[in-house]
Amino acid sequence: MKITVVGAGNVGATCANVIAQKELAKEVILLDIKEGIAEGKSLDIWQTSGINNYDTRVAGVTNDYSRTAGSDVVVITSGLPRKPGMSRDDLISTNAAIVKSVTENVVKHSPDAIIIVVSNPLDVMTYCAYLTSKLPSSKVMGMAGILDTARYRAFLAEALDCSPKDISAMLLGGHGDTMVPLPRYTTVSGIPVNELIDDEKLNAIVERTKKGGGELVALMGTSAWYAPGAAAAQMVESIVRDQKRIFPVCAWLTGEYGMNDIYLGVPVVLGKNGIEKIIELKLNDVEMTLLKDSAKSVKEVMGVLDEINKK
Ligand code: NAI
Ligand code: 2OP
Repeated sequence: MKITVVGAGNVGATCANVIAQKELAKEVILLDIKEGIAEGKSLDIWQTSGINNYDTRVAGVTNDYSRTAGSDVVVITSGLPRKPGMSRDDLISTNAAIVKSVTENVVKHSPDAIIIVVSNPLDVMTYCAYLTSKLPSSKVMGMAGILDTARYRAFLAEALDCSPKDISAMLLGGHGDTMVPLPRYTTVSGIPVNELIDDEKLNAIVERTKKGGGELVALMGTSAWYAPGAAAAQMVESIVRDQKRIFPVCAWLTGEYGMNDIYLGVPVVLGKNGIEKIIELKLNDVEMTLLKDSAKSVKEVMGVLDEINKK
């Protein structure tokens, strides 16, 4: 197995580090446009191999896509992160140009790769990679839902004073404030969460989850990286180990949930072929309305990308 991570910034380097520690591939190539940054960070990561006991070789390159040739999975994290006061959608024109050129180079050298997009605005950058790559939609997906459910699970674990390992949760929609955490599909060791926490506390956790990215931007002046990097690596793991895990993933819908031609977070089975199945939950009216609202805001930003592409 060979994995490429494009963008050796906070998220990309963290993702490469987790991939190496989990020995998900023989080789990880970290690529960045900034001279020396990928080489330096990958050398630093590789120097943890003797401490963390792994064999995965991590190497860095400056914009040399020939070194990424034959990658099985490519994670795209290149692009500007959010700054205080910016929404994810504010990043669209700059990051679309970056994601487009990166995807062209990736596909040229690794035509069979599965692509996981992380750059924001996530749903629309995934759409951008899909349009550019011309790959089947099963092979182009975005990472957001694992991160957003991980935040939700962490907040719940704190409130319930229990292990986050025991919390299983699902979340739908775009990677923005309109995301739809689903308390009805949240359990703690099989126990429905609403048997353990009152509605007021649960609603507060749902609201905090929706703004979870912004909370970190306000604290740090830039967006998060430990959980995002680990979340992208978890998607890589499910693919390269053909685990067929069910995760919320940003996927191209062709009729599921009554929606077409949109990238949106939905539960999928993730295996060696990429998205092997999209699971349709039986949503109630309130959940469906929230999902449609989220889809509407994603569609609006997709429209901005379509306009950019016409110019
Ligand atoms: P960062 O600024 O630390 O790293 C971005 C890296 O991309 C930089 O090293 C930069 O040199 C590189 N880059 C820029 N243009 C490039 C190009 N054309 N080719 C190769 N590399 C290029 O940013 P960070 O924090 O790593 O975030 C990366 C992206 O991920 C941002 O768009 C951010 O908003 C997004 N993000 C998405 C999350 C999600 O849940 N989907 C969570 C966290 C961040
Ligand atoms: C996050 O959710 C900003 O998308 C980034 O941390």
